[in-house]
Amino acid sequence: MSSNGTTSAKESPAKGKASALPRANGGRTNDVRDAHARHRERASSEGPLEYPIIDATPAEEQASVARSTHASVSHEEVSFEDVSRAKYRIMDGVQVTACELSHNLSAMTEMELYFKREYQLRTGSFKERGARNALKLLSAAQREKGVIAASAGNHALGLAYHGQDLGIPVTLVMPVFAPLTKVENCRSFGANVIISGAHIGESMVVAKEIAEKQGLQYINGYNDAAIIAGQGTAGLEILEQVPDVDAIIVPVGGGGLIAGVSLAVKTIQKNVQIIGVESVACPSFSEAMKAGHPVPVEVTSTLADGLAVPTVGATAFHVARSRVNKMIQVREKDVAIAVLRLLEMEKAIVEGSGACGLAALLANYLPELKGKKVVCLLCGGNIDLPVIGRVIERGLAADGRLVRFVVSVSDRPGGIAQLTTLIARVGASVKDIHHERAWQESDVMSVQIKCVVETRSRAHAEELRQALVEAGYPLKWGLDPNPPVIL
Ligand SMILES: Cc1ncc(COP(=O)(O)O)c(C=O)c1O
Repeated sequence: MSSNGTTSAKESPAKGKASALPRANGGRTNDVRDAHARHRERASSEGPLEYPIIDATPAEEQASVARSTHASVSHEEVSFEDVSRAKYRIMDGVQVTACELSHNLSAMTEMELYFKREYQLRTGSFKERGARNALKLLSAAQREKGVIAASAGNHALGLAYHGQDLGIPVTLVMPVFAPLTKVENCRSFGANVIISGAHIGESMVVAKEIAEKQGLQYINGYNDAAIIAGQGTAGLEILEQVPDVDAIIVPVGGGGLIAGVSLAVKTIQKNVQIIGVESVACPSFSEAMKAGHPVPVEVTSTLADGLAVPTVGATAFHVARSRVNKMIQVREKDVAIAVLRLLEMEKAIVEGSGACGLAALLANYLPELKGKKVVCLLCGGNIDLPVIGRVIERGLAADGRLVRFVVSVSDRPGGIAQLTTLIARVGASVKDIHHERAWQESDVMSVQIKCVVETRSRAHAEELRQALVEAGYPLKWGLDPNPPVIL
């Protein structure tokens, strides 16, 4: 990595925090270690949702500290020149994606918000950039033999499509949980798909064994230098499309995208803030920042499945660590609301991983960006239809537009009709209704009604609650209408 893109305390917009870091002097390595320790302490006191990273350490020095503290992590070098060459290399097969102002969501977030629409690429994600770059860099002999990768989704699709386009055989090892549509799409692009592994880690082991035996080139979807350089081309496009951008928000999984984008952007415009967003279900980049090197984290199931990489790539981390200004972690309900808003307000189908940047903005985790010019990468749109259905429901619930409650009504004829008439009068719509007699604890002449109701907004839901209270219904608002029955 060249040192020309390293964020310095002077250049960083968050000057105050960076100023404690050491400048050039003798005995520097100890100072640097102390600074890293202070930096980690500061981060852990700032709570779990945010990890600001401002590092003034020159890149060479960081590498030497990393070597001395964690000698086993090896990484490749990636330069700005690699990214700019990639831009020309892939332009014959990867279209430039739009980067447009969103009027509605700018108003909602109180910033000038642009969306870089990576989900509009042929296979639905930015992964095509790195895939085409890596394929075109193969030697003639490697092109003939072909490549192999382990992936459950977007990297697999990018490789399969561009492999077919360039006449390079592609073998993909996909875990058993890989969505059928993705498996079938990869096959339709001519890839040899092998289903093996309970999770992506197991698929990777299988893929590497096959690579060894058959002499295929293994292509890691976030850590190969050619992949990172390819992903960086999205950063170059953003600077052309929104030259005076203040901040770019990038979802982070294995770290390839943020590594490439931060390298490209910080080399040209050092004062642009690069903000990474990951899921709380897999905070692997934040943990790597705390440790100073990639560390494995426990992963729980998440809507942002493309970001569920337990250990960030060593090369990706090496490239990105000094160029990322801040890391944010978003929760499941934040992601669901972002997917919902994109559907409703942008008519855009974006998968959970691709919507995490907007999730951070909508949840107001980045209030300092208000009034600024911000580009948010919408990196992928490969979401299964059944999942969209579930995400919409979760988004509506998180948004206060799907509410549940339990009321007691008279068990005489007309009791339930009175309740539903009240709900209709307020303008809400009943989605689910269930009545329960046997476990009713009080009055034998009353019946418990469990309702799920759709409203226009949180305020509208509150209007319904007040109407129910005013009408004298004993009400348990917001409770699970189907709690486990205790006998
Ligand atoms: C839609 C989407 N967004 C973001 C990412 C994160 O990219 P990276 O693994 O390079 O950090 C992925 C990774 O697969 C993805 O599929």
